[in-house]
Amino acid sequence: MTETDQPVRVPAHVAIIMDGNGRWASHRGKHRSAGHQAGFKTTRAIVEACIRQRIKALTLFAFSSENWARPQQEVGLLMDLFMHALKSEVAKLHENNVRMRFIGERSAFSEKLRKQMALAEEKTADNTGLELAIAVNYGGRWDIVNAAKALAQQVHEGSLDPDDITLDRFAGYVSLSDLSDPDLFIRTGGEKRISNYLLWHLAYTELYFTDTLWPDFSEAELCEALAFFSGRQRRFGMTGDQVEKINA
Ligand code: IPE
Ligand code: IPE
Ligand code: MG
Repeated sequence: MTETDQPVRVPAHVAIIMDGNGRWASHRGKHRSAGHQAGFKTTRAIVEACIRQRIKALTLFAFSSENWARPQQEVGLLMDLFMHALKSEVAKLHENNVRMRFIGERSAFSEKLRKQMALAEEKTADNTGLELAIAVNYGGRWDIVNAAKALAQQVHEGSLDPDDITLDRFAGYVSLSDLSDPDLFIRTGGEKRISNYLLWHLAYTELYFTDTLWPDFSEAELCEALAFFSGRQRRFGMTGDQVEKINA
C-alpha cells in the first residue's frame, strides 16, 4: 500500500530493451566491449530486483536479428559474453527458482551456444519463480511470420480451416504464448522506438522510456518505472468512466 493507502499495481510482465551500453563506454573513453560487460552486471542486478519487486515475468532484449549487422568483432564479443553468462549465471538463477527460456531464431547460433541454452531451459524448467525470457536473434516481425508459417502449414495439410484463424489461435503461435502480454515496457538509452521487439505483444503495453544508459540503470529507476505504471489508467479502448466503474 502507498502512503495514501492506494493499492500499488505491480506489472505482472515487464519487457525491457537494454540499450545504451556502447554510448556508456564511449562517454568514458572506453571500448564498446566495456559497456557490454557493465551492461551484463546491470542485467544480473535487475533480474534480482524484479524478483524482489514481485514481478512474475521479465523479458529482456539481449540481441536483435538486426544486431548481426554490427562489426564482426563486436558480434563475436557479444556471443562470448552470452556464453560466459550462460555458464556463470544459470546455477544462481536456478537457486533463485527462476525459470529460463530463450526466444528468437536459434539456428544462427553455434552448436555450443544452442546446447547451453537448452541446458539452461531444461535445468530450470520446473521452477515456479520469475519467468525469465531472453530474446536473442529475436525480431518481432520474424515472430509474426513464424506464427503465420505454422498456421499456413496446417492449412496446407488440411487440418485447419482458414476461417478458424482467430486472434486467439494466432496468439498461440507467437513466442511467449503461455504468458500474458507485457504490462510495462522499458527502454533505456534515450531512443523512443521499438526496434523490432515484441511487435505482436506490445499492442496495449504501457511504454516507459528513459535516457539512462543501461549500465547505469538501477533498482531505484526500476521503481520509478513501476510508479509510472501504477499511475496509468489502462483503458483498452474503453472510456475512462467505464474503466473506473469496472475497478470500483
Ligand atoms: C545494447 O546497447 C546492447 C545490444 C544491442 C547488444 P548498444 O550496444 O546498442 O549501445 P548503444 O545504443 O550503441 O549505446
Ligand atoms: C535494440 O537496440 C536491441 C537490443 C537492445 C538488444 P539497438 O541498439 O540494436 O536498436 P537501434 O538500432 O538503436 O534501433
Ligand atoms: Mg543501441
